[in-house]
Amino acid sequence: MSIDQKNEHLPSRRKFLRQGLSGLAGLGLGGGMLPLVGCERGTSDPAGNGPLETGHSTSSTGPVREVHLTASVGDVEVGPGQTFRTWLYNGQFPGPEIRVKEGERLHITVENDLPDAGTTVHWHGLPVPNPMDGVPGVTQEPIQPGESMTYEYEAAPAGSYMYHSHESLQLDRGLVGPLIIEERTPHVEYDREHTVILDDFLPEAPRPLEELAGRRDDDSGGLMGGMMNRGRGGMMGEETDPRGGMMGRQMGGIVSPYEGLLINGKLPSDPSVFDVKRGERMRLRLVNLSSAIPYHLALAGHRLHVTHADGQPVEPVEVDSLVIGMGERYDVIVDADNPGAHALVAQPVEGGVPPARAVVSYQDSRQARPPEGQLPEGLRGEGRRLRYDDLQSVESLPGGGAPDRTFNLRLSGGMMMSRGEWAIDGQQYPNADPLEIREGERVRVNLSNMSMMLHPMHLHGHFFRVGNTLKDTVLVEPHMGRASFEFVADNPGDWLFHCHNLYHMEAGMARVFTYA
Ligand code: C2O
Ligand code: CU
Repeated sequence: MSIDQKNEHLPSRRKFLRQGLSGLAGLGLGGGMLPLVGCERGTSDPAGNGPLETGHSTSSTGPVREVHLTASVGDVEVGPGQTFRTWLYNGQFPGPEIRVKEGERLHITVENDLPDAGTTVHWHGLPVPNPMDGVPGVTQEPIQPGESMTYEYEAAPAGSYMYHSHESLQLDRGLVGPLIIEERTPHVEYDREHTVILDDFLPEAPRPLEELAGRRDDDSGGLMGGMMNRGRGGMMGEETDPRGGMMGRQMGGIVSPYEGLLINGKLPSDPSVFDVKRGERMRLRLVNLSSAIPYHLALAGHRLHVTHADGQPVEPVEVDSLVIGMGERYDVIVDADNPGAHALVAQPVEGGVPPARAVVSYQDSRQARPPEGQLPEGLRGEGRRLRYDDLQSVESLPGGGAPDRTFNLRLSGGMMMSRGEWAIDGQQYPNADPLEIREGERVRVNLSNMSMMLHPMHLHGHFFRVGNTLKDTVLVEPHMGRASFEFVADNPGDWLFHCHNLYHMEAGMARVFTYA
């Protein structure tokens, strides 16, 4: 079984930095990947293609891994005495970790045991063949209750990914989980690893902004009034947070609908604990599966060596903190050289709810818990905070020169409008024109953010180049923030491109890139 095996089968690893070697095969972008035969990632790409050239591998020779995911209703305990009924994969929240080796074939059967709701699963970040992408109305019809569907694709390239329902607002109901594809030959050495899942926990059924706006007009007040504002897309609000705390006032008073912020399914009242031994190098796979919260994250007493961005290897860069948007992933390595118990803290970037907290705990250390409310140095405005400019792919990326096609897209919407409406270049999906491209083209997308919220923009089916690295999700800062990326159209189909604030996506902030 490829799930529920979190760490016990992971060997201790001691490998030296392999930065100088070509990783094209390891990126899975050079094609011809051989399964389980010690194919080194240093194998160079015979076709001489750059990593942007082949977004999906056609190899189908790897061993098959069968995985079953059942979406159903169940109870989760997110803190002491805090049990909620929600929607789950295999009765777990977050969903079970799917962990496979690079080059294996995944056959994932998704069974829908939900009452009255169709569902799909999207493999966020993986350049799967288009029919496997899990987007209702674009790549498939939803799986109806009582029915199932098997998704089949090659587990490549290696990296930290996530899977989630792509049907309406189901992601914020708990239908989320991590998907890890282990490298055959990691470019960094480490002894132990933990997957760290950041999530916002909604104790009730999510509602679209439009409906929430309607609720406000009804003056149903209190919580519902506030739900329009927090993180989900924001409208001018009059409410203050009934739960007190540190609600931002920049939008006229904000209320969070969230019960709280979780790390691996646990509220700060009963935090997840990550073990480590003194002297080890610990790899943390940071995954933001939240629906509406970008985080600023740091670990007290330690620096973070960022080794992967959105699953793809980068030259290690040492920072004190990083910002991780919804849909983004960073792998970091921590040198365990400071015995004790330390707070791993993820603070919402846009204010609002109190931070998510977990504990990194040294074995045999006398201290079991960090000091109450400990705030890592990196979140106190000290030290170095990761910027996209710091990220340097281990590969030299092709590019330069004029792209074949350029899209200039404005991101707009939100608080100044009468309803929770979000748009890309003035159009609200699904009432929006497709973005037509041709196979083989190098496509450039320039984004400018005319709104007052941050938007993590995610492209399905491709990695794109941001600066000197490959990603699949890029944060666009508010207030005229800009971002640009380039991708090669090498995986034909209809590919959703959208804001990974789930509520913005549902309110129209999405488009489809299309090519045959
Ligand atoms: Cu996490 Cu459309 O994706
Ligand atoms: Cu957005």
